[in-house]
This record gives sequence, C-alpha cells and structure tokens, in this order.
Amino acid sequence: MKCSKCGGLAVINLRQHRLRLCAEHFVEWFARFTQRTIETYKMFAPEDKVLVAVSGGKDSLALWDVLLALGYQAEGMYIGLGIDEGIDYSHKSLDFCRRFVAEHHPDAVLHVVDVESEYGQGIPTLARTTQRGRGKPCAVCGLVKRHIMNRVARDGGFAAIATGHNLDDEVAVLMQNTLHWQTGYLARQAPVLAERDGLARKVKPFARIYEREAAAYALVRGIDYIYDECPFAKGSTTNFYKELLNQLELNSTGAKQQFYLDFLRAREAGKVAFEEAGPVELHPCQRCGQPTTAAGLCAFCRLWE
Ligand code: AMP
Ligand code: FES
Ligand code: ZN
Ligand code: ZN
Repeated sequence: MKCSKCGGLAVINLRQHRLRLCAEHFVEWFARFTQRTIETYKMFAPEDKVLVAVSGGKDSLALWDVLLALGYQAEGMYIGLGIDEGIDYSHKSLDFCRRFVAEHHPDAVLHVVDVESEYGQGIPTLARTTQRGRGKPCAVCGLVKRHIMNRVARDGGFAAIATGHNLDDEVAVLMQNTLHWQTGYLARQAPVLAERDGLARKVKPFARIYEREAAAYALVRGIDYIYDECPFAKGSTTNFYKELLNQLELNSTGAKQQFYLDFLRAREAGKVAFEEAGPVELHPCQRCGQPTTAAGLCAFCRLWE
C-alpha cells in the first residue's frame, strides 16, 4: 500500500477520505484536519487558553498532543475518580497522563483533581451510598466530572474545555438519541456547546475523527495510553451501538461520517427542528456558586449531604 502523497509505505488507509498515508503524512494530515475542525466550528482561537480533559486514554492524550503541536495554549486536567475494581484503574490512568507529559511535553501543565482526597469519597462509594447513584457509577461520575471540569475552567480563566470525544462516540450517541427520539438531546448534540451563565464552553475537536484514526495517531506518535476502558462501562448501550455502527461502516464506507454530517447540516439548515426543553433559568448554587436549575444546592453539592 503506497502513500497517496509521497509514494512511500502507507501505514493507514483512510477509505472515507480516499487517502492512504505514510506515518509522516498521516501525522501532518491529522493535525491539519483537527485544525480545520476547530476553525469550522469556531471552537477557540490561538490566543485562548484551553483546558483539555485527559483520561489517560488514546483520544484525550492524542488531542492534547495535537493541540500542543498546533501551538495552542492547552493545559491538561485529570480527574481522579477513585476507581479500582481490581485493576487499579484510576491510578493507572493518572500514571499514563504523567508519563505522557514527562516523555512528550515536559513543559506542559497537568492539573490533577482527586475526588476522594478532595471531597472524601470516590465514585464507587458515592454510587453505593447516594440516592442519585442508585448503584450506577456512570451517572454520578458524569455529574462529578462536569462539575469539576467547570470549576477548574472557571478558576483558571480557560476559554473552553476540550474533551476527546471522537466521531464513533458522537455517532453512537446520535443513533441512541434518534432511536429513542430524544429531541431535547438532539437539539443540543454538537461539536461545540456555547458558554452560558457561568457554564464554560465545551468543545470536541475530534468530533470528525474516527476512533481508529485517533488510535493510529497515538501509535505513530509513540503515545502510551491505558488500554482498559472504565470497568463500569463494560456492556454499556453506547458500546452496543458502536458495534452496530462498525458493521454498518464495514458494508458502507463513510456511513458514520455521513450520518453525523447530514444530521448537523439538516439541523443547521432548519430542515429539522428539535425542541429544546424551554429556556431553563439558572442561578448560582448556594454552596459552590456554580449554575444550577435547583433552588438551593446544585446536584453536585446535594451528593455530599
Ligand atoms: P469517556 O466518557 O470515558 O468516553 O470520556 C470522554 C472524554 O471525557 C475523554 O476523552 C476525556 O476528554 C474526558 N474524560 C474522561 N474521563 C476523564 C477523567 N478521569 N479526567 C479528565 N477527563 C476525563
Ligand atoms: Fe466514570 Fe467509568 S469513567 S464510571
Ligand atoms: Zn507520505
Ligand atoms: Zn453546588
């Protein structure tokens, strides 16, 4: 297989883009494609400070790497969730983040927030002991991560929070929301969520990058990452939809990309109008000051009551 640019040995075949690229040209293409996504969706500008949420996985470390390579002021943030489950999951993921900094970007800043030592309990305990958790770690985990990301972004004066969500993640959620006709979620699913009332802007610069492309980038750049996924995500519905979509892509090259882009375009052009649940009013939480729809304490602060 030959590189479409230089005729050298190609390491990846990007079928949906009709491109075969060698390692060097793939890295170049990957950075340019990410840059174009950032510009197309007006995610942030070169003078902005960006907070990259890193989990120790391939997507978020690849994202941090490429943003630094592109010259952005990107600082990392790792949230220690206190998940062990027999594989020491949280500690290991933090090690991968630290190693990434040491080996690839020794001058980069990594913010670490450990939920257990800062608030007293990790995610598994919180899920077991709180009403909201009802034994389901992922729901509390999402709430805790959102709260902490927003706090760090606000305190540090960051223009945006960037996550490593890739096209496969986005399309799996899109399919789920479409099958259940979740119009409120469909109205808000986008590569950029605007800043509002004390909630920081959230961006997904890999929204158009296939998962296998992010994995290939990490491999070519020599980025070591945690292979295990969160033990609580095993058998999740999102993973089920990802498998279905992989089968679809196998039979129809570019199907995932097309589904996502057609959805974004149709909504943009007003061909489909999804209702957002009325304009909800936000006010500061009485304890932490973060915006909430609740009258007194926000959902995060209520967790610790
Ligand atoms: P996931 O929900 O695990 O697929 O993660 C989606 C994105 O959320 C990742 O690409 C990261 O940007 C971010 N993220 C997940 N876990 C953490 C964590 N423990 N600390 C910081 N960011 C995280
Ligand atoms: Fe939050 Fe798995 S990463 S429960
Ligand atoms: Zn080449
Ligand atoms: Zn609060």
